[in-house]
Amino acid sequence: MDKIEITGGKSLNGKIRISGSKNSALPILAASLLTEEKISVSNVPNLSDIFSMLELLKSLNVKINKRKDKIDLTSSTPRSLLAHYDLVRKMRASFLILGPLLARYGKAKVSLPGGCAIGNRPVDLHLDGLERMGVTFKIEDGYVTGSIDGRLKGAIINLNKISVGATENLIMAATLAEGTTIITNAAQEPEISDLSKLLTRMGANIKGFGTKKIVIYGVKKLKSCSYEIMPDRIESGTYILCVFGCGGIVKLENVNNEICNHLIKIFKKLKSLQLKKNDNGKNLLIKKKKDSELSLIVKTKEYPGFPTDLQAQLTSSLLKTKGRSEIVENIFENRFMHIGELIRMGANVKQIGSKVIVKECKKLRGAEVMATDLRASSCLVIAALMADGKTTINRVYHLDRGYENLEKKLKLCGAQIKRVKS
Ligand code: UD1
Repeated sequence: MDKIEITGGKSLNGKIRISGSKNSALPILAASLLTEEKISVSNVPNLSDIFSMLELLKSLNVKINKRKDKIDLTSSTPRSLLAHYDLVRKMRASFLILGPLLARYGKAKVSLPGGCAIGNRPVDLHLDGLERMGVTFKIEDGYVTGSIDGRLKGAIINLNKISVGATENLIMAATLAEGTTIITNAAQEPEISDLSKLLTRMGANIKGFGTKKIVIYGVKKLKSCSYEIMPDRIESGTYILCVFGCGGIVKLENVNNEICNHLIKIFKKLKSLQLKKNDNGKNLLIKKKKDSELSLIVKTKEYPGFPTDLQAQLTSSLLKTKGRSEIVENIFENRFMHIGELIRMGANVKQIGSKVIVKECKKLRGAEVMATDLRASSCLVIAALMADGKTTINRVYHLDRGYENLEKKLKLCGAQIKRVKS
């Protein structure tokens, strides 16, 4: 298993090109199952989660032609509509193939995604919504088997909890349903809008995406299209927090106006951080000003609130800041696996239920630590960049799920970071 070694204590200066969004690319790749015609996507990040989704799609007879960040997908009828445990267990987003398969073929058998390091993550909202559209489910031996005679039926679906994945699965299913589907209490994440824009290019009729009420008028068939995936807002946010933690001036390239506005808003309380968008939001300049005392209360919330996917990184970026901050996790029940590792580095952090208290740590030291999940890994990278001495981060395969060329990008900004292959 590869490790990453970081010798901290340097500020970051330079440019970072932001990759395409992982969380957009995954549902967009799954959407290729909705048509037999070719879907061409670009700005796809090279990440292990993307390879897992491609492997799953290949097992369902999708022909894939990949050239750097461009992928063509042509989905012919598969021999079997089974998504095997070995392919689904690697990544929860694999469950996003359920809606498209049911919409196109009226049946599917998909392994339940199972547990995960950041808590119990059920799929009840996906299944309830599809049931409303007429699907009958059977759950047996860890698999969900769904079937319906004929087309899915448009339905009114109120999600009793906001879920990004359920909203995406249901939108995809509804595009080919008979009649109109209305999803209320829908997730409003930009990745939902990105998926909806792709589906619209494929001939779907979707209104209201980006709001809490999405209306999908079902069509009989979807068609070929080309689509460029939006930039990754979580990757962008992570690099902003690297600069906030370490100091320096970094320009993020290949972002967009909406992402810049969102990031400027969610980081507004970080007084010593200056964020300035340029060139109509294509670039974002990050500058760390002189440190000032800070006492924050930040609570994670669905978009447009503070993203749970940046919670761990925010914690580590605050480790050397004077003051007392509280970070509350409201989306997942067990997303604090990084806390024990930060304490190994001397951090002054304490978890109380769903809250973490961060106080200034006078001496943050490098240590041997272990990555436990994707965002916890980047939190450790930030802490390591801020610490004195060398940190070795084990199990970096978690990082490879969601950060393209992280070492290269940070190195170009002056970080002392290297991957140790094993
Ligand atoms: C997506 C993101 C992930 C992010 C999360 C929340 C992708 C590939 N992943 O994950 O990076 O952290 O949104 O922003 O886009 N829930 C249920 N029942 C369900 C589905 C979800 O109770 O059927 C709960 C979950 O346990 C969680 C909350 O709803 O507490 C939000 O989860 P959800 O938005 O579905 O997360 P994902 O789509 O899995």
